Amino acid sequence: MIQIETKADIQGRVREWKRAGATTALVPTMGALHEGHLALVECAAQEADQVVVSIFVNPTQFGPNEDFDAYPRNVSSDVDMLKAQGLASCVFAPGPSEVYPAWPNRTWVDVEGMDRTLCGASRQGHFRGVVTVVARLLAMVQPDVAVFGMKDAQQFFILRRMTEDMGFATRLVGVPTVREQDGLALSSRNRYLSEEDRYRARALYAAVQSARACILGGERRVDAIERVMRQELEGTRMDYASIVDTSLLMPVNELTSGMEVLAAVAVHFGSARLIDNALVTVP
Ligand code: PAF
Repeated sequence: MIQIETKADIQGRVREWKRAGATTALVPTMGALHEGHLALVECAAQEADQVVVSIFVNPTQFGPNEDFDAYPRNVSSDVDMLKAQGLASCVFAPGPSEVYPAWPNRTWVDVEGMDRTLCGASRQGHFRGVVTVVARLLAMVQPDVAVFGMKDAQQFFILRRMTEDMGFATRLVGVPTVREQDGLALSSRNRYLSEEDRYRARALYAAVQSARACILGGERRVDAIERVMRQELEGTRMDYASIVDTSLLMPVNELTSGMEVLAAVAVHFGSARLIDNALVTVP
């Protein structure tokens, strides 16, 4: 597995692969890799001949009071993990000046409206930072496929809209959330949880599963479904428990047959903010 740090080198490498008739998949990450990321790499290896895992802790997606400085960084243990898995061909770990050649950054990619609900409502500017960095990574690597985890479903739907609108040739693939045995979604932020909070965090999965069961059981009133999710999260510092449609991520009042919706929750535990969701097609 090779390690590359510059735009020129990654472009040269992907060009060589293309000339040899090989396709490339990109798995964008911020490092602190866990089993969930390895599942993305596994999917990427099924989708393309060569897999590039990018590692870049993107400053523009963190708010002023968020954990950018404290975000776990350990590229060498990430590399060891990928080597042990044996599926990635390349780690692309660019420095900030490769991704943002002129700082402060002035060119932003913004998908209007879709960042108003769920995490976007309390993390102003977060998705603008995510979309901008992913657009830069796609422009640098020019992969055939890019793979993202569906735990960040809002991110996935926003990025999918961005690639369609911008005409990127890259196809986006979403991989189902990898979970602990008790249902907790894997996240780099789970390591911040105290023992007690780790136990209480099971409520997130319980909430989205209850929403799914309500919808599949025939409930059509969104307020009733959201109430059920809030009940599961009682006693936690909840950010949201909402149902939105997946095309524009807007709140819906009443569910109709065939509609694809996201039942999504976010909860604070100490310094960690955890999210989870269930994607449901209304029967
Ligand atoms: O999901 C993440 O880890 C990040 O938001 C991403 C897509 C790598 C962009 O920095």
